[in-house]
Amino acid sequence: MSKQPIGIFDSGVGGTSIWKEIHALLPHENTIYLADSANAPYGLKGKDKIVQLSIKNTEYLIRQECKLIVVACNTATTNAISVLRANYDIPFIGIEPAIKPAALQTKTNSVGILATKGTLSSELFSKTSGLFASNIKVIEQVGEGIVELIEAGQVYSETMRQLLTKHLQPMIDANIDYLVLGCTHYPYLMPLLLELLPNQVKIIDSGAAVAKQTKAVLENHGLLNMQTDKPQNTFFTNGNPKVMANLLDDKFEVNFLNF
Ligand code: SIN
Repeated sequence: MSKQPIGIFDSGVGGTSIWKEIHALLPHENTIYLADSANAPYGLKGKDKIVQLSIKNTEYLIRQECKLIVVACNTATTNAISVLRANYDIPFIGIEPAIKPAALQTKTNSVGILATKGTLSSELFSKTSGLFASNIKVIEQVGEGIVELIEAGQVYSETMRQLLTKHLQPMIDANIDYLVLGCTHYPYLMPLLLELLPNQVKIIDSGAAVAKQTKAVLENHGLLNMQTDKPQNTFFTNGNPKVMANLLDDKFEVNFLNF
């Protein structure tokens, strides 16, 4: 049993979509969320830089005595989690595009994946894709510009609608019936995606699976917080606190931190 916080980091505000799933499943856990918005997007950076930034975030969370770290960023997971696991002696939970369930369930044999350049070009992604989706058509689409707009607080803007329309068209043309969201920023686009995609397309994101995995790993390590006092949920960003507070429906205080 441990009251130590769960640490969660992302390149920016998108990982709050994962934090929400974790908080819903584990409401008594204390959490610290770190948004490296000053360095977003990670998806356009090289692997070495992504590893370096992931180490910086991890070390900050370890100094805060986190008991487990959730890498709530597909790009950081696919490029850096093996380095983190090899170098730090606490459990890490990562997030990968859910290509397997989409590949298993598709009826049109065609699935779409929207992710960053860093994720789609990673070794881990090509391994997973090769393993589970070699017999189907996978339309990979870099979500160019999306993270930048969300970090600027423009989730529902006309620019976002136009950008998404452009990114989704090749997938619609290829008759996909599953769209895999491969970036933790993208669940915030759900209303727009539902509006722009044909009705038969189902959207898969990995948030709930990450929360379940977090719970299972805490259980296995005897690290669940069994106390039921009000948890402390702390949010730090080195970007604009207002953007993150808005995604949290202004229910939590977001602090600026120059880390
Ligand atoms: C990014 O920083 O480019 C996106 C984060 C992610 O891949 O989840």
